[in-house]
Amino acid sequence: MRDGTWNPELPLPMTIREVRQETPAVRRFVLDGSLTAEPGQFIMVWLPGIDEKPFSLMNAQPVTLAVAEVGRFTRAMHQLSQGDRLWLRGPFGQGFTLEGRHLLLAAGGYGAAPLAFLARRARGEGRRVAVLVAARSRQHLLLVDEFRTLGCEVYTCTDDGSDSQPPRLAPQAVEELLTSLRPDALYACGPAGMLDALEALARQYHLPAQLSREAYMRCGIGVCGSCTCGDQLVCRDGPVFRIAG
Ligand SMILES: Cc1cc2nc3c(=O)[nH]c(=O)nc-3n(C[C@H](O)[C@H](O)[C@H](O)COP(=O)(O)OP(=O)(O)OC[C@H]3O[C@@H](n4cnc5c(N)ncnc54)[C@H](O)[C@@H]3O)c2cc1C
Ligand code: FES
Repeated sequence: MRDGTWNPELPLPMTIREVRQETPAVRRFVLDGSLTAEPGQFIMVWLPGIDEKPFSLMNAQPVTLAVAEVGRFTRAMHQLSQGDRLWLRGPFGQGFTLEGRHLLLAAGGYGAAPLAFLARRARGEGRRVAVLVAARSRQHLLLVDEFRTLGCEVYTCTDDGSDSQPPRLAPQAVEELLTSLRPDALYACGPAGMLDALEALARQYHLPAQLSREAYMRCGIGVCGSCTCGDQLVCRDGPVFRIAG
């Protein structure tokens, strides 16, 4: 366990304990170590000779990641198997803060990873949690069973309607749930376009919202400036940003 005596800026080696294919593009990696972290915080994963990239924690104890294969680094990660080693720094950034008794979580693609961590924490505190899992098609819906096991009410939406629901994008499905469920707060992680639309909805419905956003990162600790978003740094001031509603 990494505790207060460990410097989070130093790479810590961990060994892969389990790899599981979750969807055609996403693999779950369970590591042999634990961190003290808040849901929504991220770590920097270093593969020597390849690169170092940010990933949200899906769980901290043990460290668990859900990694979508999109390019060189994530392809290299998908080639790793049980017993292989990787190095990580962190946890970094501002995580989610739990507020309200009835939460709506909206997950787009691998955005389900930090929201599964949040759902586990919220359910552990006895809060009611509804989750919308969104993807382009049914086979890409991520962590639906995980959310059900945690005791969440799970809703899905797909761009093509292959989940037997009318085809629709996440913001439309979220708006339907806002009016039918009337949650106290909205939490979301997903593509930038989805988050922009949800931010507008949160303002329109005067609902507090916390949105986990992405940016290109190098240092992860507020030094290099590569993750600038307006006058803020996503690695230091985010990745979770709060909308007052
Ligand atoms: C705070 C944070 C948390 C993240 N959590 C996860 C996670 O839990 N699971 C996961 O699979 N991925 C996560 N990511 C994204 C992950 O870091 C990138 O997919 C990864 O760095 C891509 O590296 P690559 O070399 O495989 O692909 P690249 O070749 O670098 O990129 C492939 C494609 O993805 C786009 N892309 C890459 N990085 C970003 C970015 N930071 N923002 C926007 N577009 C990008 C590129 O423009 C390109 O189109 C997170 C990113 C951040 C900033
Ligand atoms: S990644 Fe370097 S300042 Fe944010």
